[in-house]
Amino acid sequence: MYELPFPPGDDPAKLPPRYYELLDNEPLTKVRTPAGDEAWLACGYDVVRELAASSSLRRGHRNPESAARINNSVVQGGPTEEFEGELERHRRMRKLLAPAFSAKRMLALQDSIEDRVDSLLDGLTAPPVDLHAGLSEQLPAMVICALVGAPHQDYELFRSWTSRLSGTGDTEAGRAAQIEFGIYMAQLLERKKHEPSEDVFSDLAAAGEVELPEAARLAAALLFAGYETTMSRIDLGTLLFTRNPEQWAKLTAEPGLVTSAVEEILRMVTTNIQDTGGAVRYAAEDIPGTPIASGDAVLLAYHAANRDPRVFERPDEFDITRSPNPHLGFGYGMRYCVGSTLARIELRAVFGALAKRFPGLRLAQDRLRRRSDSVTGGVTALAVTW
Ligand code: HEM
Repeated sequence: MYELPFPPGDDPAKLPPRYYELLDNEPLTKVRTPAGDEAWLACGYDVVRELAASSSLRRGHRNPESAARINNSVVQGGPTEEFEGELERHRRMRKLLAPAFSAKRMLALQDSIEDRVDSLLDGLTAPPVDLHAGLSEQLPAMVICALVGAPHQDYELFRSWTSRLSGTGDTEAGRAAQIEFGIYMAQLLERKKHEPSEDVFSDLAAAGEVELPEAARLAAALLFAGYETTMSRIDLGTLLFTRNPEQWAKLTAEPGLVTSAVEEILRMVTTNIQDTGGAVRYAAEDIPGTPIASGDAVLLAYHAANRDPRVFERPDEFDITRSPNPHLGFGYGMRYCVGSTLARIELRAVFGALAKRFPGLRLAQDRLRRRSDSVTGGVTALAVTW
């Protein structure tokens, strides 16, 4: 049985070689997780989509103590929901969040996001600059602050919680961050009852029956799901361009390509999730037509499905004109990313502005340090010049 994480190959643009073998021969296979337990790894595009669409695969496990563990992270390490009532709670979560991601709210956020990108880039005056510190780390935290209705200056707090919550090494630090975060959110919810505006916490306060634990859970879900994911797409998307200067030249010559360029970034970028295999699920019952039995852990490897040669020609090539591009970068099925529209707005604003302002953009550092201690991965710094 293969063990996760798979050893990396020589080419950083590719997935670890084992994934390509599995894509060819075993799109669904049993592996040993970094925690030493067994899980099914789904790699092939069709099988990942099929399983992601199945309501028999859950985040909760009937007997959580006996569930296979993936690693020590609070957010991805094992069952992350209570089994009883999970589907009902999930439906409610999506319903409560729907107003926050309505077309009207997204449109309103779009202008402010473009302004924020501009002012962050205004601050980058003397190249070489660290794009990670100056832009990628800042923008997604600012946007989530605005989305939930927290004061702009608190975005530093959001950054600190999220890095502790997604750390894979220290479970205690993750729990402490959860508590601090809960207290902050309690105060925010209380404020929004009296001073509502156009934001998630005002929606929740107005919905009346939403109590604090649920509101804090929703805010944590947004923060975890929306911050580091976007941050690493900005960093690693930039890296893809600096490694493929002809694609950068295409974008700077034809700014309209930013839409398909962002889709290609979403397809190609892989983060540390590849080390833990993918999005974690547990089978609530035997899954017909597969060897997956009730209680088994299943890892949905969206990153591998995005390189399936049956669906994507020349899958390891970064091609910003790729069309169609039915990638699974935002997942699939009932857990499909709630924030996909918002993330697209952020990424288009970033790469649109970078292409306009810095047509000569290139990397200004030889060695990149990977953020190895977080499930969302990415880099610790990204020096660029132009
Ligand atoms: C480029 C940035 C992003 C990427 C690549 C991304 C990717 C994903 C993926 C793959 C999933 C499915 C996970 C699974 O199947 O278990 C997901 C779910 C989710 N995403 Fe995103 N996401 C991004 C940005 C955001 C943003 C900005 C937000 C909100 C502020 C957000 C909120 C969520 C939520 C709440 C879920 C859970 C949905 C559910 O359980 O029904 N995401 N995201």
